[in-house]
Order: sequence, then structure tokens, then C-alpha cells
Amino acid sequence: MPVVAYVPISDSPPLLGVACSPLAFTFKLAVKARAFSLCLLDRKYLGAMECLAKVSGAKVIDKLAEIGIKYSKGRKVGAPMIGDAAAAIECSLFTKMRLGDHVFLVGKVVASRAVADFTDFWTFKEYRPILYTGWRRGMTTYSED
Ligand SMILES: Cc1cc2nc3c(=O)[nH]c(=O)nc-3n(C[C@H](O)[C@H](O)[C@H](O)COP(=O)(O)O)c2cc1C
Repeated sequence: MPVVAYVPISDSPPLLGVACSPLAFTFKLAVKARAFSLCLLDRKYLGAMECLAKVSGAKVIDKLAEIGIKYSKGRKVGAPMIGDAAAAIECSLFTKMRLGDHVFLVGKVVASRAVADFTDFWTFKEYRPILYTGWRRGMTTYSED
């Protein structure tokens, strides 16, 4: 599922967080598996991002395959790692906290990889990130009422 953003939280242990609706199928999977992955996608994936937002994983056998996104299972926790992602991060679920209508999922980074554009920081010569610029109704699989 697309998420608005992730936040780096801690270096030791390495922790990051995402805010996830408990209505999302991805949320249920992450909690059950006690793991999730985070993949940073280039702007060329903008169309796929829309499909990922509108189709629920609960309704199809393999949402990523359905949309034509190639992935492999992460070696540490088995969460899907998108092959063409600019960066892919495997996390075990460190803790979760209900905050309003979302749950803050805190992941402990157990493995990561990035394309050459990233050394100590992104040069943005190859990787053109998708930046969140606002919300449009209908870009979700659950009721917005
Ligand atoms: C740009 C964008 C950002 C989104 N950010 C979030 C987010 O941060 N948290 C969330 O719970 N849903 C977010 N959504 C909505 C989910 O990605 C969407 O409901 C998704 O289809 C859930 O899929 P699933 O039911 O297969 O898990 C976002 C959607 C878009 C298009």
C-alpha cells in the first residue's frame, strides 16, 4: 500500500515508522507477520501507485503481481521487496501505537538496499522520488465517511 511518508526514529536500534489505517489489508498482514517492508519508488511508478491505492490486497490473490510489479521475498523477514525500488527496507515490527484513526507502526530495520544514487545521501540524479502533494478522494480502498 502507498503511504504518505515514513519517519526515521532511532539509529540504535535502527527504527522507522509509518502511519497505517487499521482498515488496510496491509496493516492486518504486517501485524500478523510482525514484519513489513518499505520500498521507495521512482516517479515512473506514479500510475502503479494509483492502482496500489485503489485495489485492496484483500480482494486479489497478489496485488503487486496484478499491477505488474515484480518483487521477491525479503531474506530476513520475507516481506515483499520490489525489485526496481530505489531503496527497499525490511523491518520486523518493533511496536505499534494507536494514534487517532491510524496506527503508528514502528519497524526495526533488519536489512536494506539502495541504488547507486544513494551513498550517504540521495543525489537525485537517477532517483526521482514521488512526493506527496495532497489528497484526492477515492485513493483508498476503505470508506472515507
Ligand atoms: C499517495 C497516497 C498516500 C497514502 N498514504 C497512506 C498512509 O500513510 N496510511 C494509510 O493508512 N493509507 C494511505 N493511503 C491509502 C492506502 O494506500 C490505500 O487505502 C491502500 O489501497 C490500502 O491497500 P490494502 O487494503 O491492500 O492494504 C495512501 C494512498 C495514497 C494514494
